[in-house]
Amino acid sequence: MFNFDFEIEDDGVNRLEPEATPPQIPNTEPFAELSLSQLLDSLPPLITYSPLSIPLSSSRKNVTLARRDLFDARFQLISEGEGDEPAAEKQRETPTPVSALGFLDAPSDLVPGIYEGGLKTWECSLDLVGYLDGLRDPNSSYFSGKRILEVGCGTGIPSVYLLSCLFSENSTVNAHLVLQDYNASVLELITFPNIILAWYMSPASTEYRATDAECPPADPTIPGELTITPSLKSAFTASVTRLGISLAFFSGSWESLATHLGSVGAKHDIALTSETIYRTEALPALIQLLRQAYTATPSLCLVAAKVLYFGVGGGVSEFLRTLQSKTMVERGLSGTAETVWGAESRSRPENHADRLGLKR
Ligand SMILES: C[S@@+](CC[C@H](N)C(=O)[O-])C[C@H]1O[C@@H](n2cnc3c(N)ncnc32)[C@H](O)[C@@H]1O
Repeated sequence: MFNFDFEIEDDGVNRLEPEATPPQIPNTEPFAELSLSQLLDSLPPLITYSPLSIPLSSSRKNVTLARRDLFDARFQLISEGEGDEPAAEKQRETPTPVSALGFLDAPSDLVPGIYEGGLKTWECSLDLVGYLDGLRDPNSSYFSGKRILEVGCGTGIPSVYLLSCLFSENSTVNAHLVLQDYNASVLELITFPNIILAWYMSPASTEYRATDAECPPADPTIPGELTITPSLKSAFTASVTRLGISLAFFSGSWESLATHLGSVGAKHDIALTSETIYRTEALPALIQLLRQAYTATPSLCLVAAKVLYFGVGGGVSEFLRTLQSKTMVERGLSGTAETVWGAESRSRPENHADRLGLKR
């Protein structure tokens, strides 16, 4: 995992041309913003979840988050009779050729340019949580007051971890979180339900839990089922408002988000991304997006990735090479990076390495 800095002075002027994106990138997913009310409406009447235990290097040893079960997302799609088109995708003029159910049933983890793997949790996102946890002084609210962007969030585990910290604060935190995934269906089916679960498992939901004797325990180490009622949705909305947490969700390709970043507003203090540098031809667009999103000072841009993605071409060296390439220099996008954390190998249940041929 590494943190990097861009080498240019930021005067707030965007000199990037949209056509600077390399034409060979096969990403066509258009930009869409999913509002909080749209995401609340898309929740099913019940979600099931299981614990996701994440090792930490601190004395806490590990943290456990509740994560929506993938089979439950599949069940939602089938029981809604849509089988394949979550609300946000139905509104598109040009529907995606592969359905959300198709993603879930696909024998491959990725369908390039159509589905980019966000329904599953990839292992470097757990490393990113471990690293973020190390930044946090247990006695201070490190993430309070920060503008945070998670690019290519998928199941959103780093953001879910940050939110679980923020939901545990007693007073206003004034934090702003932006989550982006290529596929709107990922945000609807998994990312947002995971955020609801983070809230439910936190002290922020205490009042709501007291109103309903049927509520499952707010214990992320126990698998369970959460009934999604109108009062739960209202209590969630009231909590985020009371704590001063603003959430924004964007789907579409990195190129499309870069052109809409103006709508996201000010620059971010923390930009996070995990397992997103696997395809060489997509790197310039990712770097451009991070460049546009970043530069509040001081800021942190963390990229968690495997050393090499076999058969796909990307990896840490390719990312660093692209970051310092002549093209990036000419476009004012070059930067430097430092490794802040590393691991030799691992054996984790989240390991999809065999299927993609990944090597650390
Ligand atoms: C392998 S998944 C990793 C998901 C998550 N960060 C994790 O570590 O579990 C890669 C993610 O990058 C995003 N992604 C990949 N290529 C993209 C592109 N060209 N434009 C936008 N998003 C892209 C997808 O949204 C996808 O969720």
